[in-house]
Amino acid sequence: MAVILGIESSCDETSASICINGKVINNEIASQDIHEKYGGVVPELASREHQRNIVPVVNHVIKEAGLSLSDLDAISYTRGPGLLGALLVGGSFAKSMAAALNIPLIPIHHMKAHVLAHFIEEPKPSYPFICLTVSGGHTQILKVIGPDEMIILGQTQDDAVGEAFDKAAKLLGLSYPGGPMIDKLAAEGDPTRFSFAESEMPGLDYSFSGIKTSILYFLQKEVRKNKDFIDQNLHDLAASIQKTLISMLMNKLILAAKQENIKQIAIAGGVSANSGLRNELAYQSKKYGWATFIPDFQYCTDNAGMISISGHLLYENNAFGELSDSPLPRMPF
Ligand code: KG4
Ligand code: ZN
Repeated sequence: MAVILGIESSCDETSASICINGKVINNEIASQDIHEKYGGVVPELASREHQRNIVPVVNHVIKEAGLSLSDLDAISYTRGPGLLGALLVGGSFAKSMAAALNIPLIPIHHMKAHVLAHFIEEPKPSYPFICLTVSGGHTQILKVIGPDEMIILGQTQDDAVGEAFDKAAKLLGLSYPGGPMIDKLAAEGDPTRFSFAESEMPGLDYSFSGIKTSILYFLQKEVRKNKDFIDQNLHDLAASIQKTLISMLMNKLILAAKQENIKQIAIAGGVSANSGLRNELAYQSKKYGWATFIPDFQYCTDNAGMISISGHLLYENNAFGELSDSPLPRMPF
């Protein structure tokens, strides 16, 4: 039983959340729109925005939960992986606060937290389950055995699937991050109109860099013949690209479920917001008799709710960190 403050600052969202006795009370997120005009996250600007946002965001969640600083039992924070300068802001803030209040620190692995976001709300999966974690930085199939016991069954060897969505969107002239826009356009497009070769990788690993090249060459060829090709076919292009990426994701997920003989299947990370992926998961779950789990949208993209619930789950194991712990941009799994 504990009151935990969670802090997330690994990329471009500054977020804080309070978890009381395993119940996530709030999840405040300050997003950084400044990166949009640069077509991607600019690390220096991200750190500056985190510095600007961290105090108001943390104060807000404590006040909103009706707590005072002395009510906090521990502070969990994202130690990695992520951008060094961004992680430094949240980590230093968490450490100073824990030192001042003389309470323990719980360092959290950002990708494991995406998985543990499934324990914020009902229905919750039971262990062991398979989790496909799909974000702008990662694409992994995990076997989840416990809150801190996860085995990577397969992962991307190059681009993450979110990156593939964003790069494809850029080729279509859409602004960053283009994943949600592809999703929106695809809803009114014909997914069978164009086909793009799916990369073949051994086992449960993925490769998404080839598809970007295949889309690029296809578009260059068509635009040479008709300069308005992209505008005239935007919906069908978005739908066809989305279908290809989802098919690649699902094929390996089905294989993992069969191989491990597990029927509890979860998806997590920013791309799990994609409606095509959600529909396909629903379809396959009927076919294979899976129970499926997707966190509420606010807990799919980067957020501190997943950090405070992770803090709660690890607090019981006494998984405490030190004030001397430094950020780990490439934190091992
Ligand atoms: O997990 P996340 O918020 O941040 C990290 O990368 O950690 O994921 C962001 C990624 C971006 O690549 C974004 O384009 C993608 O998730 N994304 C989507 C959708 N919503 C977010 N991709 C496809 N369809 C969506 N609806
Ligand atoms: Zn993330």
